[in-house]
Amino acid sequence: MSADQSPPTVPFDAARIAKAIRQRLQSLARAGVTSIRTPGTSQTDLRELQNQLAAIEKNGLPEPVQTSAIEATASPVVPISEPRTNLQQIPDKTPESVTEKTATLPTPNVALNISQEEALMRSKKQNQLDIICQEVENCNACYELASTRNNTVFGVGNADARLVFYGEAPGADEDKLGEPFVGRAGKLLNKIIAAMGLTRDDIYILNTIKCRPPGNRNPTPQEQQDCADFLKRQLDIIQPEYIVCLGAIASHSFLECKTPIGQMRGQFFDKNGIKVLCTFHPAYLLRDPRRKRDVWEDIQFLMKDMGLPVPEKSEGVT
Ligand code: URA
Repeated sequence: MSADQSPPTVPFDAARIAKAIRQRLQSLARAGVTSIRTPGTSQTDLRELQNQLAAIEKNGLPEPVQTSAIEATASPVVPISEPRTNLQQIPDKTPESVTEKTATLPTPNVALNISQEEALMRSKKQNQLDIICQEVENCNACYELASTRNNTVFGVGNADARLVFYGEAPGADEDKLGEPFVGRAGKLLNKIIAAMGLTRDDIYILNTIKCRPPGNRNPTPQEQQDCADFLKRQLDIIQPEYIVCLGAIASHSFLECKTPIGQMRGQFFDKNGIKVLCTFHPAYLLRDPRRKRDVWEDIQFLMKDMGLPVPEKSEGVT
């Protein structure tokens, strides 16, 4: 075969391949997988693999790496007490391209605290979310945000969560790490979640927009509108029973109203069959800790409705 007849060669793009592997490992981690096994090797901790990959991305590939089928082990997840009844229903609205590309998690090989069915549903939903996450990473709808961000902040947690926390917008810490609520307000949110007897792995967290507004200004209505389709698709996949809107911006954006947050808290609103509770934003609680009591009351109200055991005291919240 002469040179001009030879088939086109695909350039070996190590960075792109490493990124794809990194995203796959992140996806498995988000689905609750803690270790994987490749043929001929013992069980390897997922974090260890992520560290190895980070080293390869930094220092280059020492020698050719063989890819192989993986066997996954899901980590124990504290179940939210009331069983869900609507797990099987992914809405018809799910775009075809999403369903087509869905991959399934290999059968877990250890006893699990969550049922295999739940693990599979969670993994299936996570794969669907991963596809939207990639779209978000490439989104340039808001020129200012796209040109100033370091990372998009898609959302994090259990893809099959009963409960979603809905915040305002990423700040500097979130922009740096690509994860919502990882700064000071996030630490307080973690305490609220822990006071509920849950972890970040039980619930899902997202914001009205996926990129940090420069200088931590409020997200504009246009930016919220530009991001709304991503939010809708995420919620269509997760299908939460409850959404907690954190602060006025999230509450007004989600419920399309302008009622003062102090009048909205302490009750459920219905939006498309989802029970929506509005409460103060953790960042506001850091400025005015006296409001923590109100938030704890709202959270107790939520927990009762969710069928979760309600402790009298909330370590670290009030
Ligand atoms: N505040 C928010 O509303 N969202 C974040 O992700 C972080 C802080």
